[in-house]
Amino acid sequence: MLNKIKIWKNQNNSSTLRDKIEEIKKLPVPEHVAIIMDGNGRWAKKRALPRVAGHHEGMKVVRKTTMLANELGIKTLTLYAFSTENWKRPKNEIDFIMKLPEEFLDTFLPELVENNVQVKMMGYKDQLPVHTLNAIEKAINETKDNTGLVLNFALNYGSRAEIIDAVKEVLIDYKSGIIDEKDLDEETFSSYLMTSDFSDPDLLIRTSGEIRLSNFMLWQLAYSEFWFTDVLWPDFREEHLLDAIESFQKRQRRFGGI
Ligand code: FPP
Repeated sequence: MLNKIKIWKNQNNSSTLRDKIEEIKKLPVPEHVAIIMDGNGRWAKKRALPRVAGHHEGMKVVRKTTMLANELGIKTLTLYAFSTENWKRPKNEIDFIMKLPEEFLDTFLPELVENNVQVKMMGYKDQLPVHTLNAIEKAINETKDNTGLVLNFALNYGSRAEIIDAVKEVLIDYKSGIIDEKDLDEETFSSYLMTSDFSDPDLLIRTSGEIRLSNFMLWQLAYSEFWFTDVLWPDFREEHLLDAIESFQKRQRRFGGI
């Protein structure tokens, strides 16, 4: 497999990593992994670089993480790339982040296609710059028939807004008789969310030492396993994803039962 060889060649500790990958593949891997990619600014500051340098380095980590997730057989990888609150950042930083999907896809789309990855996006599209949206929609279109990993970018995404919008949609459907009060259960409500195509995340990873959700998938993460690391996103490597999955595989999920 293409990505298998690349991981092998790129690592100094390649055989250890390869062994770990093979060990992890023997047990069930999480179907849906969601990541809050945090710490880009601090990574740059530590190197006396502008904050955007951290985002650029973070983009490269998106590629490696995607390839490994695909190889491991993870079905969905949701990456929190920009929140509805991130518009509060300086304009130059916002402009830079909004150019990253284009750069990422210009560089890596052929590789994503080759590896059967399907690109998706969740978030409020209307406020995105046209160039950002065009790049993403092109990638979504070109990969729509792929059957491997779904790489789902959360871009201009906010969970509270998503939930309020879902409630509004339910009310509209209630008024027009499409849905009745007795039909509204958790499964039906989930179908009104932006994640209606996906299962809930089994594993949430947040980098950079922050222990919070920051308005990310509040409904969907109700029963997810959480894995936090002090590693800053640009320093996140294959071994860290493997550590997170290994930890997940050792946990007993009870979903409220015993
Ligand atoms: C949070 O770190 C990171 C972001 C708001 C941007 C994340 C974006 C990427 C990793 C690149 C995405 C790539 C593609 C292809 C869309 P921060 O800036 O809050 O870090 P800090 O807490 O150290 O300041």
